[in-house]
Amino acid sequence: MREVEFAAKIAYCSIEELSAAQKQLVEKAKNACDRAYAPYSGFAVGAAVELDNGEVVLGANQENVAYPSGLCAERVALFAAAARYPQAAPLRLAVAAKKTVASPGGQPAFTPRPVTPCGACRQVFSEVERRYGRSMEILLYGTQETAVIANGEQLLPLSFSM
Ligand code: THU
Repeated sequence: MREVEFAAKIAYCSIEELSAAQKQLVEKAKNACDRAYAPYSGFAVGAAVELDNGEVVLGANQENVAYPSGLCAERVALFAAAARYPQAAPLRLAVAAKKTVASPGGQPAFTPRPVTPCGACRQVFSEVERRYGRSMEILLYGTQETAVIANGEQLLPLSFSM
């Protein structure tokens, strides 16, 4: 028998603890929430991906009445980046989420806890890193704290590959 154990390394940071570049990308992801089309879930997600050519590409979740036809913000951003700049490696991805339907008496608000990407997006993070041979730092925003993760591998060990 051969036993293997995986552990994820995540740094939970206050906004002040982020670098200027990290803060800027998080702000872009927060603003990108306004581009979401999320009439069914009321959950607007924004993503911003920074490329090694200096460009930043935004994404937001796009829903559809045929629910599985929609796509998460992270994949919208990464696929748009690859279509626009196929040679540029994504180096950093920031994600933020906002409930657009306010709780009674409340305002639409960003999530207090860092938003956690779904499994399909994690699979895509892995392949982006494999494709370009570069790690992609992941910043998951929450109003209480932001999770900083050095690479996609942390979020999905044993991702599928052929
Ligand atoms: N969603 C994202 O865009 N990214 C995530 O990390 C989690 C979920 C979207 C999918 C759907 O439009 C809505 O959030 C509710 O699941």
